[in-house]
Amino acid sequence: MSGRSVREAIRHKRNGGELEAEDIRDFVAGVVRRTIPDYQAAAMLMAIYFRGMSVPELATLTSAMIESGERLSIPSAVPKVDKHSTGGVGDKVSLSLAPLVAACGVTVPMMSGRGLGHTGGTLDKLESIRGFRTALSPKEFGRIATRHGVIIAGQSDRIVPADRILYALRDSTATVSSIPLISSSIMSKKLVEGLDALVLDIKVGAGAFMETVEDARRLARTMVGIGRSHGVATRALLTGMDEPLGLEVGNANEVVEAIAVLRGGGPADLALLVRTLGVNMLEAAGVDGAAHRIERSLESGAGLAKLAEMIRAQGGDPRVVEQPERLPSAAHARRIRTTGDGYVTSIDARDIGLAAMSLGAGRQTMEDRIDHGVGVTLSAKVGHEVRRGDVLATLRFNDPALAGRASDLVERAYVISDLQPDRQPLILETVS
Ligand code: URA
Repeated sequence: MSGRSVREAIRHKRNGGELEAEDIRDFVAGVVRRTIPDYQAAAMLMAIYFRGMSVPELATLTSAMIESGERLSIPSAVPKVDKHSTGGVGDKVSLSLAPLVAACGVTVPMMSGRGLGHTGGTLDKLESIRGFRTALSPKEFGRIATRHGVIIAGQSDRIVPADRILYALRDSTATVSSIPLISSSIMSKKLVEGLDALVLDIKVGAGAFMETVEDARRLARTMVGIGRSHGVATRALLTGMDEPLGLEVGNANEVVEAIAVLRGGGPADLALLVRTLGVNMLEAAGVDGAAHRIERSLESGAGLAKLAEMIRAQGGDPRVVEQPERLPSAAHARRIRTTGDGYVTSIDARDIGLAAMSLGAGRQTMEDRIDHGVGVTLSAKVGHEVRRGDVLATLRFNDPALAGRASDLVERAYVISDLQPDRQPLILETVS
């Protein structure tokens, strides 16, 4: 026991010292009980921002955050494994991956989030499905996960409450972008699921939280270290996010694309990422013949059937799996065409994400409402050869007044040149 006051603990961290476990537990408990005022909590966050945290400090911080609320109880005879993505544009991977991996005989209890700014959120995409419920109590979450082997739902207020308070403070004190604070925030919300294994998809590039491989690698190593220190088999894949993933960006249109992957189709980059993450999840969970099982679940339709089962279990209309036309769609479409010949050299994922958001597919603030039927469909990806007048992308919208800004953003996102670009690998490296 350190017996240090909060002020002394802040000074110790500010001077580059290592906090004792007791300092960290007292800090998190005080923040949640509101016995530590915001100005002291903010000062500690800033000290951590500049001084970082050691692996033992991070393990304790993550545990203290988990212990700030209820734990999820998910009795399961088979390994429990999850995936977390740091988020990107067109990232609908979870919609295909969770049921696909569950169909291979493990439990996937996935707590997911909403979109903000240029990136979308898995929960928003799932809510395109009529009746689909994402707000579940911890008890209901555990019951569905145990019975069906898969669930994708939001985080209840009773789970990791420390993260909500600390994140709000970080947001208002410019301390969000600290690798130890990001890592403990994400990992506390995953480890509370009581997992055996976890795979992290760390996006790198213009449309991602981490814009350089070096930053992504540091984040990956830190998160893998936290997972390991909690006895969870954790590995991370660094994957490219310079251009959007797949062809669809929005909500309902992304669900349609995710269903196509479970039918063995879908765009090559998306299908590759789903397969690779699936194999890594099964391997990390200690399941033999991972690649073979994933292929078999795709070919047999077991992954698709699991998606329908999950949708039904969460109150949604499972007929969308066979009849995607039941999902919301947009009243209007506008095609964006190229004005010259050449190769698509780059597509700025952030601008495409902002275009979809400006049509109503995303939100600028957490209070904004989403129009699930709107979005952007890409016809040409990086490396495609195009001729003047070819369609690059199609905007789908309900309010014509919003289409002008979205058109400008999509036109700005596409760079066409005479030089055929080198193909960048989608999977950059693995950290384990
Ligand atoms: N996502 C989280 O959940 N927490 C962070 O700190 C950053 C991204």
